[in-house]
Amino acid sequence: MDVSGKVVLVTGGGGGIGAGIAEAFAEKGARIAITDINGEWAQAEAARIGHGTIALAHDVSSPESWAGVKEAVEAQLGPVDVLCNNAGISLPFKPMEEITLDQFDRCMAINVRGVFLGCHLFMPEMKARKSGHIVNTSSVNGQLPHGTFAVYSASKFAVAALSEAIRQELEPFGVGVSILYPGLTRSRMSMGQWESLPEEIKCELEGKMMDAIWLGRAVVRATEENRLHIVTHPDHLENLKARIDTLYSAFGEPAQPGFTGGRVRS
Ligand SMILES: NC(=O)c1ccc[n+]([C@@H]2O[C@H](COP(=O)([O-])OP(=O)(O)OC[C@H]3O[C@@H](n4cnc5c(N)ncnc54)[C@H](O)[C@@H]3O)[C@@H](O)[C@H]2O)c1
Repeated sequence: MDVSGKVVLVTGGGGGIGAGIAEAFAEKGARIAITDINGEWAQAEAARIGHGTIALAHDVSSPESWAGVKEAVEAQLGPVDVLCNNAGISLPFKPMEEITLDQFDRCMAINVRGVFLGCHLFMPEMKARKSGHIVNTSSVNGQLPHGTFAVYSASKFAVAALSEAIRQELEPFGVGVSILYPGLTRSRMSMGQWESLPEEIKCELEGKMMDAIWLGRAVVRATEENRLHIVTHPDHLENLKARIDTLYSAFGEPAQPGFTGGRVRS
């Protein structure tokens, strides 16, 4: 897709990765709507990016809020060509039994239900127009679950699975889907989490944080080329290989002797 002149909606764009995505699309001449639960943060980013970027207050976990955002964007910019479901929250690093049900529900409501609602709302018209692209922000933890980060990891696995599945559904209609798997990136979320860390770990992490604009540019390239996976932090490759190797090695004999599944015997 040539993104120039296209209408791009970025959720959770009031800072961090969402703002980087919005800025990168603006660099390519797209017309941008930034949404965020914090309307003032969205407005500040829209003003910084310029290029006629509009800002809207939005709760991605609410269908009513999505309906209002869709109406406002269409009225001001036109139909959405590229939807970036990026809004998300993190949880404290803790053993899972210390995570409350309320924290679980909130994380799933924003990270998973929010992505479902956005896709659900825009998929039908993208299919009808036979054009469009959806980018969903997962995480490195969406392929590499992390102890003390169980619920967040589960939410990001859900985003990756949902995205890969709807890519199959939308492909026949010429609509693309990409998954963004950020590693450590400078943002309110990542900086907020490190407040409680010891000074020496902060110094180590500081050098490991990527700037969000580079993730945004990777998202733009993937949208232009309709690529499924957007890996911005390749330093996690060895860990991913180890996880996949463990899974491969579990593919031995079937539990029921002689079972061949759906395969027809020759
Ligand atoms: N920063 C990282 O290192 C990192 C790594 C992997 C994945 N991610 C993912 O990237 C995405 C962006 O995170 P970020 O790091 O830029 O953090 P961030 O906190 O700067 O951005 C997230 C934005 O989402 C907004 N938001 C929260 N709840 C919302 C809701 N209900 N409706 C609408 N907006 C809401 C926040 O106000 C915030 O501005 C998230 O999905 C996050 O899980 C971040």
